[in-house]
Amino acid sequence: MVEFSPDSEAFRSDRAGIFRALRDEAPVYRSPDGSFIALSRYDDVTTAARNWDTFSSALLGEHPGLELMNLVDPTAHTDLRSNISRAFSPQRVLDLEPEIRAIARSLIAELRSNGSGDLIRQFTRPLTTRVMGTLLGFSDEQVTLCQSLTDAAMYEDPDVTAFVPLIQELVSDHRASPTDDLTSALLGLGDDGGEALSESAILAFCFGAILGNNCTTMNSLSNGIWLAADHPEQWRELAEDPSLLPEAFEEMMRCEPPTHSSQRVTAEDVELYGETIPAGTLILLLWGAASLDERAFDAPERFDIHRRGDQHLALGWGTHFCIGAALARLEARVAFEELVTAFPRVSVLGAPERLPSPWQWGFTSLDVAFAG
Ligand code: HEM
Repeated sequence: MVEFSPDSEAFRSDRAGIFRALRDEAPVYRSPDGSFIALSRYDDVTTAARNWDTFSSALLGEHPGLELMNLVDPTAHTDLRSNISRAFSPQRVLDLEPEIRAIARSLIAELRSNGSGDLIRQFTRPLTTRVMGTLLGFSDEQVTLCQSLTDAAMYEDPDVTAFVPLIQELVSDHRASPTDDLTSALLGLGDDGGEALSESAILAFCFGAILGNNCTTMNSLSNGIWLAADHPEQWRELAEDPSLLPEAFEEMMRCEPPTHSSQRVTAEDVELYGETIPAGTLILLLWGAASLDERAFDAPERFDIHRRGDQHLALGWGTHFCIGAALARLEARVAFEELVTAFPRVSVLGAPERLPSPWQWGFTSLDVAFAG
């Protein structure tokens, strides 16, 4: 009997095997304590992610005083998301490229002088933290505080209340002295005659963006380097032709996605494989299991930078598809371009320890040796 518990040692040591067993033996998996049902096959996960009226996010409950986008269904969700997207626009993301590159280069210069180091402490963590600091307009002290809050959030189910004082301070600083960063743009959304964004929606979005970037994007980069070190011939190919990097990053996310699952609640009874899932059941959509489904991908456990893997589910699917996808992809392209150019050879030292986190897949540290 397969057992799925994302913060167990058994899961950390055989994630792909447990996902396979779930898909093959228990596509409607009931947790032993009956608290949730997990869906793991590609078709089931994508169908549920599209059908928000049956698999609801709003029924997950509210967070008092915070309009969290992932706890709202259409049409309220569509309105909120399109309003935020006016400030968090594609152009605002693209404009970050020179700053991301400058940060990546300065971190690589330090790594290069040593020839080896902990890639998380010395590269992926400071890179993503500083990028979010630039995007939202944090002071240096706020960046430091934000980082310690995110570090703590990685090890448990993230609690927005820990972040509220920091984000409130960020918002009041920006109300007093607006600049041209994202926080000011969110605060100014009503100025052009469009709909203004409530302070609770701004707080909630900043929280989601901080976690999405400082935990999830960070882990996606570390997981990618780990895969690259495990497949040196593919890393060498990327060094020879960095234009392959965007596709390679999609494949990295397909194979080692940082977010295990997202939650929904059934709004009505659902029949699946002859079983009835009652209305009101907590559902986990297992993005990682579905992205390794042999019903959807050929030899899914093989890492192949030439695969057209853009149908993976690491960034979600449907209504709540990751709003930060363009930012994550930009950070990854720039980070990997700089890394692969500086270090065409990379190897992992020792056996890195997996992150004991209920919601993130990554490493606590990743000691690597680089060669130019
Ligand atoms: C590789 C990096 C990332 C991964 C793997 C990732 C993963 C995901 C996934 C799986 C979802 C779907 C949640 C659901 O269906 O309930 C999601 C949504 C979301 N992500 Fe990301 N994310 C990443 C980066 C980011 C970044 C950089 C941001 C910064 C803005 C961000 C902010 C959000 C927000 C606010 C949502 C909620 C969207 C909604 O409910 O409409 N994420 N992300």
